[in-house]
Amino acid sequence: MKSVGIDGISIWSGKLSLDLANVFAPAVGENPDKYTKGLGLYTCSFPDVREDIVTMGANAAYKLMIAEGLDPSEIGRIDVATESSFDSSKPISTYISGCLEQVFGEEFRNVNKGERKFACIAGTQCIDDAHNWILSGRNEGKSALVIATDTALYERGNPGEATQGAGAVAMLISEDPSIMELSLKQGYSSVDETDFLKPNQQFPSVDGKRSVQVYLSLMRNALMNFEERSGKMNIEEFQFVPFHVPFPGMVRKAASLGYRYMTRGTPIENELEKLIGPKPEREKFSEDEKYTESIREYMKLLEGTEVYKKWYKHVIEPTVQISSKAGNWYTGSVHLARASSLLHAESEGLDLVDKKILVGSYGSGAQAEIHVETIKEGWEEKIKKMDIYSQLDSRRSLSFEEYEQIHDVHNYSKEIDLDELTNYKNEFICTGYGKMGENTYEFV
Ligand code: CAA
Repeated sequence: MKSVGIDGISIWSGKLSLDLANVFAPAVGENPDKYTKGLGLYTCSFPDVREDIVTMGANAAYKLMIAEGLDPSEIGRIDVATESSFDSSKPISTYISGCLEQVFGEEFRNVNKGERKFACIAGTQCIDDAHNWILSGRNEGKSALVIATDTALYERGNPGEATQGAGAVAMLISEDPSIMELSLKQGYSSVDETDFLKPNQQFPSVDGKRSVQVYLSLMRNALMNFEERSGKMNIEEFQFVPFHVPFPGMVRKAASLGYRYMTRGTPIENELEKLIGPKPEREKFSEDEKYTESIREYMKLLEGTEVYKKWYKHVIEPTVQISSKAGNWYTGSVHLARASSLLHAESEGLDLVDKKILVGSYGSGAQAEIHVETIKEGWEEKIKKMDIYSQLDSRRSLSFEEYEQIHDVHNYSKEIDLDELTNYKNEFICTGYGKMGENTYEFV
């Protein structure tokens, strides 16, 4: 069986940032701790006036091509995952390849291109498609470019407003990868849900509280399905467990659920029982509400144990470091989580070759997916090329008034004339509209 996986990663953040504690919280009359301690978010990325999902995706892909020294002839497939598309017919991948051709020449003409939509899980599904394409041999030695790009905007005043974000993650999927090998086994949980959707509208209709519950319930079911397919998991086997990160507080909830699930029937469960008692059982409660309350109490106790805190610090905390500064990038978020943990490991000098991570993806509407990845020889050299923290540090900070204007600039129903807030150099920018109403782009 061929070894297939991630052989390169490049990230592009929107060039503006909003400070949630110091700018957003006072303006909307909220306690800053709600964002930093509650949601786990400090700043969010926003696109400048001439940035959008195409420029961010093209810039991430361009950087990846340069960093990996790739020639266009080595790419046989370009798949884009997004839930922020502005066109129901023309795929974002053709816009992005059009951009890349401005720099590399017209050499992406025999490449198979597509666009995947399933809320935030579509990036993981594009990786699946590339994986299958390579396993089948239809790639004929070529690699796939997978680009997850989104501008996660909510209507002003929506509770989701604090969890906005914008950016793109480009990944190279190849045979004999030097970062991550993908497992064949996967676990799924998928239902017809209406937790978050955009029925022909730019901003989402969201039932925020419900979406949190659906995320958790499907993640648990996907873990169960994964175990049914691949056998009992050993929690100690996983160096990191990157989950989809709409905001780090969500991952806090997913982590304790995952920990509880994976430690069932193990010596850790016995140890926990001595400390905090047994997990409440549904049969012992006459009402759902009382059972839910008791589970909440139990989880709080679990999260307070030393054994859990130690696991969380080493296995989960490193996965949310980028997102805590970048916000929700929808399709890119789980891939930011993987990158975040690898950057942490590289800075700590950890020896990770042949170690495993467990990846939990989620898309509203709704589906969760679980799979394992194995870290490959050469990962440090590849990861060192990522400059995401310097990008995040050099973003232009927005005042609240500027934030309001930028939100309006990216709102399709408003026509706002605003000068760009940053300088553009060695990157793709949006220049306007063409004769057919298409967006136009240029490398500057
Ligand atoms: N100090 C410390 N913590 C505080 C606090 C304070 N002063 N004030 C509030 N908090 C805590 C709250 O207790 C809460 O934490 P817990 O859930 O752990 O109790 C947290 O901060 C958030 O507070 P609220 O629940 O009151 O916040 P809210 O109702 O205004 O908004 C939300 C929360 C509903 C999730 C909202 O952000 C939202 O709608 N987000 C968009 C939807 C979303 O991201 N859903 C996630 C699952 S769906 C998904 O993953 C797909 C996707 O990408 C969108």
